[in-house]
Amino acid sequence: MRRLPASYLPPIALDPSGSTPLYQQLSEWLRQAILDGRLRPGQRVPSTRSLAGELGISRIPALGAYEQLQAEGYLETFRGAGTCVARALPDDLARPLRPRCLPPSVSVDKATASRRVSQRVAGMRPPAQTWLDSLGAFRVGMPALDHFPAALWSRLVGRHARQLPIEGMIYDDPMGYLPLREAVAGYLGTMRGVRCDASQVLITTGSQQGLQICAHVLLDAGERIWMEEPGYPGAHQAFATAGVRMAPVPVDEEGLDVARGEALAVDARAAYISPSHQFPLGTTLSAARRMQLLDWAARRHAWIIEDDYDSEYRFGSRPLASLQGSDRHDRVIYLGTFSKVMFPALRLGCLVVPKDLVADFRAGRDAIDTFTATLYQRALEEFIREGHFARHIRAMRTLYRQRRQAVLAGLRDHLGDRFQVIGADAGMQLAGLLPPGVDDVEVSREAARRGVSVRPLSPCYLGESARSGLILGYGGASLEAIREGVRQLARCF
Ligand SMILES: Cc1ncc(COP(=O)(O)O)c(C=O)c1O
Repeated sequence: MRRLPASYLPPIALDPSGSTPLYQQLSEWLRQAILDGRLRPGQRVPSTRSLAGELGISRIPALGAYEQLQAEGYLETFRGAGTCVARALPDDLARPLRPRCLPPSVSVDKATASRRVSQRVAGMRPPAQTWLDSLGAFRVGMPALDHFPAALWSRLVGRHARQLPIEGMIYDDPMGYLPLREAVAGYLGTMRGVRCDASQVLITTGSQQGLQICAHVLLDAGERIWMEEPGYPGAHQAFATAGVRMAPVPVDEEGLDVARGEALAVDARAAYISPSHQFPLGTTLSAARRMQLLDWAARRHAWIIEDDYDSEYRFGSRPLASLQGSDRHDRVIYLGTFSKVMFPALRLGCLVVPKDLVADFRAGRDAIDTFTATLYQRALEEFIREGHFARHIRAMRTLYRQRRQAVLAGLRDHLGDRFQVIGADAGMQLAGLLPPGVDDVEVSREAARRGVSVRPLSPCYLGESARSGLILGYGGASLEAIREGVRQLARCF
């Protein structure tokens, strides 16, 4: 068994004036901590000298307690390595005894009621995530990590970690690290047509947090928001958590149906939308609908939350400018992420907010988690400033184009009209419909068993009229993995 490194001890309360000798109080306490699992087999305990120092007692009771527990087989000592909880303790002896802590009169049902949590948490639970059972081809949201300049990135992070100045170690502005906000404003202005300066950029811990900040700053509990139907489950979670009521508004080939939205929820205070590459269907909001949506927001004094999660990659046509760039009434809050262009575990994203809302967003962000860890912000700023970011995006465009073609060809050859591709013009994923009667959740479960990760479409619907389909991420899959993945997928239904 591996020896655990920690030498922390849970708090000990000794009674120096009590009738029980100190060594016995200490040994009883340690024995109990081992029996109820707070100290695990192999875990190091402090030396008698430091334990005595910490407890403000002489070393003699500590020595006495350790000797007794060694004799009983609870502790063992290694020359040069200190004292540990015995590794040979039978596992059931060392298992936590929590259920036994309940008084005998408390029935299980009563215990459940007494452990009641908020009703809100039901909205936080994601729908069945069958596709996460496999790391194989088509995992949605997975960039080409094998092509990420990992060595360069580690060097940058390492250097920033070694040279972190005092300003990098103290509380920063809730809006984020200013040089990174400047770099992001420059990038979004040039690449996405976003009209902003650094004062409007808020660095988030990924889009998911950006959505939460928007929900809390823009809307009160019980107010309504238009949600694309089908739409992004991460957004459903964020708005549900804030107690916002979601009105599903259908998406057709032109994107969100604004007129239906007005008919379905005229009182909505906001709309959440992914106009450049609708999640999950992959459509693009048409120019007419863009104008209609901006006009609605201006007339109804509503907010638009624009999720621009992967529009760096566009294949059918030139990249489209952001909706924020066409907004003349400052009604759009732009939401960006580095999860696709860099990697998801980086947990960095951004919001661009209208100037008159900066103070409110700063306060909202401060209340939620103060600010994002500075180290990665500093490394990313240099990564952008030195041109690595732009270079990586260019390289990935070429790679994803090839991978996209390989998936489309494979689907055509192996699935034919059993899989009708509906959105494949942008990003790192495509969506398609399954024949009527085929259960997409079951297909995705069977695919996971075969080492393929495909995300079902139906859980992306809030309402009843869910269509059955699949979302296939191709960004993170090599050409061989794509070929094999499509072959396996064809066997799933
Ligand atoms: C529509 C949409 N928005 C945002 C994100 C990125 O989320 P995050 O920045 O929290 O990783 C994703 C990731 O899959 C997404 O599909």
